[in-house]
Amino acid sequence: MNVIMLAPGYPGEMPYFCRGLSVQGAKVYGVSDVVESDLPPMTRQHLSGYLKVPNFQDEDTVVKMVAAGVGSNTIDRVICMWEPGVLLAAKIREALGVPGMGVEQAMTFRNKDLMKQKVTAAGIRAARHAGATSIAGLRSAAEQIGFPIIVKPMSGAGSMDTFRANDMADLDAKLARVTRYDEVNVEEFIEGEEYTYDTICIDGKVVYENVCFYRPNPLAARSNEWISPQTLAVRDLSPPQIQAGIAMGHDVLEALEFKTGFTHMEFFHTPKDEVVFGEIAARPAGAQTVDLMNYCGDIDLFVGYAEAELKGTFSCSTERKYNVANIFKRAIGKGRISRIAGLDSILNRFGEHIVHVDLLPIGADRRNWILTLVSDGYVVVRHPDWQACCDIADAVGTDLTLYAS
Ligand SMILES: Nc1ncnc2c1ncn2[C@@H]1O[C@H](COP(=O)(O)OP(=O)(O)O)[C@@H](O)[C@H]1O
Ligand SMILES: [Mg+2]
Repeated sequence: MNVIMLAPGYPGEMPYFCRGLSVQGAKVYGVSDVVESDLPPMTRQHLSGYLKVPNFQDEDTVVKMVAAGVGSNTIDRVICMWEPGVLLAAKIREALGVPGMGVEQAMTFRNKDLMKQKVTAAGIRAARHAGATSIAGLRSAAEQIGFPIIVKPMSGAGSMDTFRANDMADLDAKLARVTRYDEVNVEEFIEGEEYTYDTICIDGKVVYENVCFYRPNPLAARSNEWISPQTLAVRDLSPPQIQAGIAMGHDVLEALEFKTGFTHMEFFHTPKDEVVFGEIAARPAGAQTVDLMNYCGDIDLFVGYAEAELKGTFSCSTERKYNVANIFKRAIGKGRISRIAGLDSILNRFGEHIVHVDLLPIGADRRNWILTLVSDGYVVVRHPDWQACCDIADAVGTDLTLYAS
């Protein structure tokens, strides 16, 4: 099979997806905006061809360049596992007549207003919401929905420029964060804990599913630099709120007519014991979350996904053996990493339960913690017992410190 993969080198998990597709027998043709020699070695090793395009945002130009590059060859799949390219992939599919998600369907996974309209129309509980394209429209949407509200870019990701406003004065004070967007979504504020519901589907059937828990909620994690945010893959999916979230997830996939590939949904569980839809993306969860799923079951979903996508079968085990936590670290201070304290003690104390450490080395420039959840590095820990996993994760949060100067 001939597969076009957009952004085969970035973010960090893409080389593994590229390898998975090639291991499953596909010829993978990469498209992205960097020169070929700058692609990660694993990506280069598994590509059968590569096209450098000037800029992913100029979608029409990319579509034309890809079509010209493909010529009379047949392409079987166009894949993008990275949010900013999901719509572009759909445009390329339509231009080349390749099966898979088209532009209209992809829009429902990118536009938060459209997404919630479809989900709500299917009888699924989502935050009350309205789109706004002007300040006046934003104020009137806020009044109509009622404070407190959440305001976010219509096609945002990673909590960028997303904020809560408690009243009109608060909204006015925070307007500067969204004036550069053409359109924002205004939503009823949902109080509650946040979970993910992740799947791999084949022709509308869920063949793999996963739930993660966010500690704390992403908006809090993205608003406070001192926090070491945690994402935890939950071993036991039987608690009622998780079962309710999974059932909602199935309804959402059906309402949006999702067919084949990876999905990443988020939902709230409120103090009134209600589950509320948050959002859904037609791609895997980012920030190394696929690794958590792999560590949870000792499987390789990079290869498993490729099998589902290319062959319509799925052979990975779905047994859940561990709770797995990813703890993201943010250095204290600005500039370059100057010291890492507490790592040896963490490794000695928790031994086999620490399964992966990926911290910036001393001397490296700090990453922008607002732009990338991975921040200055992360540690993955796992344990069959939930509380033990949380305790180890908290120890990594409090006892491991990166310093910058
Ligand atoms: N309606 C809402 N009520 C409460 N919190 C919200 C709401 N919408 C978003 N948030 C918070 O903001 C975060 C980011 O919003 P989300 O819709 O997931 O967009 P994205 O992750 O694409 O930036 C959520 O994880 C949640 O913490
Ligand atoms: Mg989100």
